[in-house]
Amino acid sequence: MDTVVIGQVARDLALRVERMPGSGEAADVRERIEVLGGKGANQAVGLAQLGVRSALLGVVGDDPAATEVLDRAVADGIDVGAVVHRSGTRTGLIVDVVDAEGTWRYLQDLPPEVLLTADDVAAAKSVLTRARTVVVQLQQPLDAVCAAADIARRGGATVVLDGAPPDPSASADLLAMTDVLRADDTEAALWADAEIGSAAEAVRTARSLLGRGPRMVVLGAGSEGNVVVWPDGEAVLPLGDADVVDTTGAGDAFTAGIVAALDRGPEEAARWGSAAAGLTVGHVGGRPRLSVDAVRRALVPVSGNPHSCR
Ligand SMILES: Nc1ncnc2c1ncn2[C@@H]1O[C@H](COP(=O)(O)OP(=O)(O)OP(=O)(O)O)[C@@H](O)[C@H]1O
Ligand SMILES: [Mg+2]
Repeated sequence: MDTVVIGQVARDLALRVERMPGSGEAADVRERIEVLGGKGANQAVGLAQLGVRSALLGVVGDDPAATEVLDRAVADGIDVGAVVHRSGTRTGLIVDVVDAEGTWRYLQDLPPEVLLTADDVAAAKSVLTRARTVVVQLQQPLDAVCAAADIARRGGATVVLDGAPPDPSASADLLAMTDVLRADDTEAALWADAEIGSAAEAVRTARSLLGRGPRMVVLGAGSEGNVVVWPDGEAVLPLGDADVVDTTGAGDAFTAGIVAALDRGPEEAARWGSAAAGLTVGHVGGRPRLSVDAVRRALVPVSGNPHSCR
């Protein structure tokens, strides 16, 4: 298997309304989308759409919804053999309500049982050690994340981390096992332990993280887009000109784009990620709608690479 994605798998219900109802109010739903969702599944779908064979490691319950989401994943070309079926547990549900301004509210039914444990990860060792790349979502419990990174690293896989752990200051061991780190604006602020106000600040944070283990760090930089830093260079990736309907899943598409293009080098991989994110903000819900051709057409020029020009 090329890639294993470790993260949430859930039912995803996206509802588009004109205006978010206040308490005691009702709103008519303009568009309703029910799909396979959760950050892990979204990334695996994005990878499949970009031609990367991927397997999912996440947890479903023992209800009919489990069969439903896994059937959908299989139809998307994802290997679900390693997905954990937890008895006595309901499969996760994420409801995403978005208004005409693109403001979203999530309702999440993600009981603790649908999170991975270190034992779940250990049971999937043979899958992880065969993978070329292992993508780990930091929303999963830290001991499961660390077990995954450790097994993947020992097996020779490239370890990609997505997000930020609850206490980044205690993540020295994890960063030391990481090859690529990608975090959105909020998660980048957690890593920095401060708000990040500009691309220059994001670059500084990314470079300090680079010194702790990874060989490539991509951080959100608000309206300036995203930055990518690697040992010999850095670049700012401005946001594309897509009309933003709902950013849900754009971060997951970003990570899928990076992973699909890792062999092209850090700058190009980050450009693929940014293009994939731009292709995901224009529709409601987290499910990506990617293709290699669409990503190629959406690639935006990067600005500035001061480090390698010195
Ligand atoms: N027009 C755009 N073009 C390219 N990238 C964009 C555009 N708008 C937003 N993005 C990028 O998409 C990503 C959105 O991810 P972010 O994680 O912030 O959103 P999210 O709603 O939390 O998504 P997810 O549910 O995937 O985590 C960011 O990296 C952001 O820079
Ligand atoms: Mg995000």
